[in-house]
Amino acid sequence: MENVTLTNVTVSPNCLAEKVILITGASDGIGRALALAAAKHGANLIILGKSLKKLESLYDDIVAANAPEPAIHPLNLQLIEQTQADELAQCIYNMFGRLDAIVHNAGISGQITPLEHLEPKKWQEVIHLNLTVPYLLTHSLLPLLRNSQQASILFTSADEARQAKAYWSAYSASKFGIMGLAQSLHEELHDNTDIRVNCINPKAVRTNLRIKAYPGIDPLTYATPEEIVPYYLYLLSQQATHLRGKCILFPV
Ligand SMILES: NC(=O)c1ccc[n+]([C@@H]2O[C@H](COP(=O)([O-])OP(=O)(O)OC[C@H]3O[C@@H](n4cnc5c(N)ncnc54)[C@H](OP(=O)(O)O)[C@@H]3O)[C@@H](O)[C@H]2O)c1
Repeated sequence: MENVTLTNVTVSPNCLAEKVILITGASDGIGRALALAAAKHGANLIILGKSLKKLESLYDDIVAANAPEPAIHPLNLQLIEQTQADELAQCIYNMFGRLDAIVHNAGISGQITPLEHLEPKKWQEVIHLNLTVPYLLTHSLLPLLRNSQQASILFTSADEARQAKAYWSAYSASKFGIMGLAQSLHEELHDNTDIRVNCINPKAVRTNLRIKAYPGIDPLTYATPEEIVPYYLYLLSQQATHLRGKCILFPV
């Protein structure tokens, strides 16, 4: 996918009004900051994460901000198969009849270790959550995205999908894989639908995932989730309809 660096994006206060958006991994890190901001910009959210407690805390923050009440969908994505993805699609259909965007954000770094020490189960967990789950959800939710006037699918990439690093084999493989999945889906959809498929590479952001993966680096050197959220809002808004089949970077 072609890399595009976004600079100086500005979004209007109601840029996501009426949009129905599913965010996976909404309970923490980038996904949480995005969910709060997207709701404040008018989105009707389905917030999906593993921890119900964290989702409820996010729900409270969204409601306290007088933003549209989100739908909570606690789900351990590590365990899902097509049936659970289809059930989620049915829930969203019953509530909204359509889906305007999915942000495939949930992810784990897994074991960072030489390949010969990487346990098969840990390999499978990373590949399942970071690569297979976005496939399963997209597979089940595409009919709902087709019901939207201007749908958007946002996959989450990483620097490790541009340049693999030693000890990061499962994570790198999953992120290289997601780029391939996204590009293939873009090629399938760009001529005959208005569904936009893009990847976003958040680079280095101050979240639990990052801090645990790089314990020797001062977290204060990283961008905060709130600093990068405007780029996500822009990508989900009507302002970004020209961006299709791109890997999005930003200068923070
Ligand atoms: N932070 C960075 O520097 C960076 C850089 C490049 C790419 N990324 C990517 O950005 C995305 C978000 O990462 P982050 O840094 O925000 O990570 P994070 O703070 O660790 O948050 C990860 C999110 O994924 C959810 N999740 C993890 N396992 C799950 C499971 N089995 N079922 C359902 N949800 C699950 C977590 O839910 P719970 O809290 O409920 O467990 C949490 O909401 C990931 O795809 C990551 O690869 C991050």
